[in-house]
Amino acid sequence: MSMVSKALRNEEAHAGGRRTVAGIVNSIETSEGGGFLVRRPFPKAAFSEFDPFLLLDEMGPMDVAPGEAKGAPDHPHRGFETVTYLLAGDMEHKDSRGHAGRLRSGDVQWMTAGAGVVHAEMPSREFARDGGWMHGFQLWVNLPQRDKMMNPRYQEIPNSQIPKATSADGLVRVSVIAGEAMGEKAVIETRTPIIYLHYRIEPRGAATQQVPGAYNAFAYIVEGEGLFGAEGERGGDGQMVLFAQDGDEVRIENPADAKATLEVLLIAGVPLNEPVARYGPFVMNTEAEIRQAIEDYQQGRMGAIKS
Ligand code: FE2
Repeated sequence: MSMVSKALRNEEAHAGGRRTVAGIVNSIETSEGGGFLVRRPFPKAAFSEFDPFLLLDEMGPMDVAPGEAKGAPDHPHRGFETVTYLLAGDMEHKDSRGHAGRLRSGDVQWMTAGAGVVHAEMPSREFARDGGWMHGFQLWVNLPQRDKMMNPRYQEIPNSQIPKATSADGLVRVSVIAGEAMGEKAVIETRTPIIYLHYRIEPRGAATQQVPGAYNAFAYIVEGEGLFGAEGERGGDGQMVLFAQDGDEVRIENPADAKATLEVLLIAGVPLNEPVARYGPFVMNTEAEIRQAIEDYQQGRMGAIKS
């Protein structure tokens, strides 16, 4: 290749590098599990999934009064993964396979339900009694057909083991839950390529994140207001920004006149492009597999929680 054509190719790659914004989605408020309020950008009637992602819930932020904490008592899952990321609060987890865990501020639980578990996600006894500040997220990641019936797997990573980085100017911090950012690599393994980053950007700061063109990518704004994509579209608290698949880089900026830190979850994954059959906590490829999942659950084949 000649130097000229190489230079041209580099320029083209650069010109096509930065993704634009394809749309901005507002969250709805809905009641989940034992009756706690969540903000949910998707799924909803006109926007049922963002392949390979099936759901995002924001729990809180809210001040929970003593005795008022709610959770999600015993329920099943099959065919996908639930990713719980707690920013504040104290949750306990138990399942039908005898697994138990606990989540506090900054901890992540990446649960691959596979063939099926029955689990309970509840506030800890202390948090239920005393109340306190509660804030967290649950993301549902679809599994490819080949993994839907795999053995369930847990990856429980405490805050102290989540890789973190700070930019040279000190204005951008990132926690790397999945994928890679600012030279840090996640410790969590995913079944298909996934990026899950928590950015905290101070006013005048900007993050430029590599997101290969094949990935579907979105940002969910946890706090503050920022400028997104090649054209700097504005998005705020509780909104989901969908990036177009027109580049391999995502830019997020907190403008100089901003008063607060911009907090964003940047989530991306390679679409599975497989049929989705979905009924409540079961996500399979066909209706027959959904009927089988319901039957297996009702017959107790996913087990039960022993107390
Ligand atoms: Fe669950």
